[in-house]
Amino acid sequence: MSIEKPVAFITGASRGIGKQLAIDYAKAGYDLVLVARSTATSPTKLPGTVDDTAELARENGAKVLSIGANLNNPDECESSARAALTEFGKVDVLINNAAIAPIGSTLDAGMKLWRLALEINVNAPLILMQELCPGMIERGYGRVINISSSASVNPEMGRVSYTTTKRALEGMSEALASELAGTGVSVNAIRLDLSVWSEGYVFTLGDRAKEMDFEDPIVMTDACLWITNNDNDYTGNVVTIADLRELDAVRGKTSYSQ
Ligand SMILES: NC(=O)c1ccc[n+]([C@@H]2O[C@H](COP(=O)([O-])OP(=O)(O)OC[C@H]3O[C@@H](n4cnc5c(N)ncnc54)[C@H](OP(=O)(O)O)[C@@H]3O)[C@@H](O)[C@H]2O)c1
Repeated sequence: MSIEKPVAFITGASRGIGKQLAIDYAKAGYDLVLVARSTATSPTKLPGTVDDTAELARENGAKVLSIGANLNNPDECESSARAALTEFGKVDVLINNAAIAPIGSTLDAGMKLWRLALEINVNAPLILMQELCPGMIERGYGRVINISSSASVNPEMGRVSYTTTKRALEGMSEALASELAGTGVSVNAIRLDLSVWSEGYVFTLGDRAKEMDFEDPIVMTDACLWITNNDNDYTGNVVTIADLRELDAVRGKTSYSQ
C-alpha cells in the first residue's frame, strides 16, 4: 500500500534559505514543488539553480517538480501553482520565501523597482495563496508560511520598498489567517530578525559581509517545520527567531562558515 506523501511548495528555492528548506523538507518526508528563475538552462549571475536544488532534494528522497518561473509575472505565479496541482493533485504547505530587497533612494528610483518589489514580495504570495488555499480548505488541512524580515519594523534600513512590502506581507498573513480561521489552514509569517547566510544576501552586502557574523539557514528549517507541525489554531502569528528560540522551537545560536 502506498502512503500519500505531503507536498510542500517553496518559492525562491534556487539558493539561500529556500534551498536549505527544500533539502530539509525532503529529509522530513515531503515531495516538493520548487520555484525560482534560475534553471539549469537559464542560470543567473548568482550561484545556484532550482534544478540543482531539485537534484539535492531527490537525493534526500523527494519527488520534485522544479519550475523556472519569474514571480514578477502574475501569469507565471498562476501557472506554477496549477502545474503543482496537476503534478501532485494537492499542496499541503506553501512557503512564500522568494523576495527582493532593492537598495537606494526611493525618491530617485522611479517606479520600476518599487513595482517589482510589490509584485515579488506581496502579489506573488497573494496569487499563490489564492491558487493553493482553496484545495487546502477542501481537504481541511494546510499551512502557509510567509517569510518576512525585521526590515518590516526597521524603517531606517534604507530599503523602503523592502520595509513596505514585508510589512504588507505580515498584515496580509494576519488578515488571511483571520479569514481562514476554522478551516484547518493556518497562515503565519516569520519575521526573520537575524542575518542568515545566503548567496543573495551576501551579494547585496558586498564588502560589508566580511565583517558580519551570519547564522546558518538551518534555523529557518527549524522555524518552518515547527510551524508546519503545529496545530491548526497556531495561526495569525508574526514570529521572530528570537520568539521561537524562547519556545525551544529553533536551535540555539548557530554560525555559518562557507
Ligand atoms: N538572509 C537573511 O539574513 C534574511 C533576513 C531577513 C529576511 N530574509 C528573507 O528570507 C527570504 C530568503 O532570503 P535569502 O537570504 O535566502 O535570499 P536569496 O539568497 O537572495 O534568495 C532569494 C530567492 O528568491 C528567488 N527570487 C528572487 N526574485 C525572484 C523572481 N522574480 N521570481 C522567482 N524567484 C525569485 C531567487 O531565485 P532566482 O534569482 O533564481 O529567481 C532566490 O532563490 C526572503 O524572503 C528574505 O526577505 C532573509
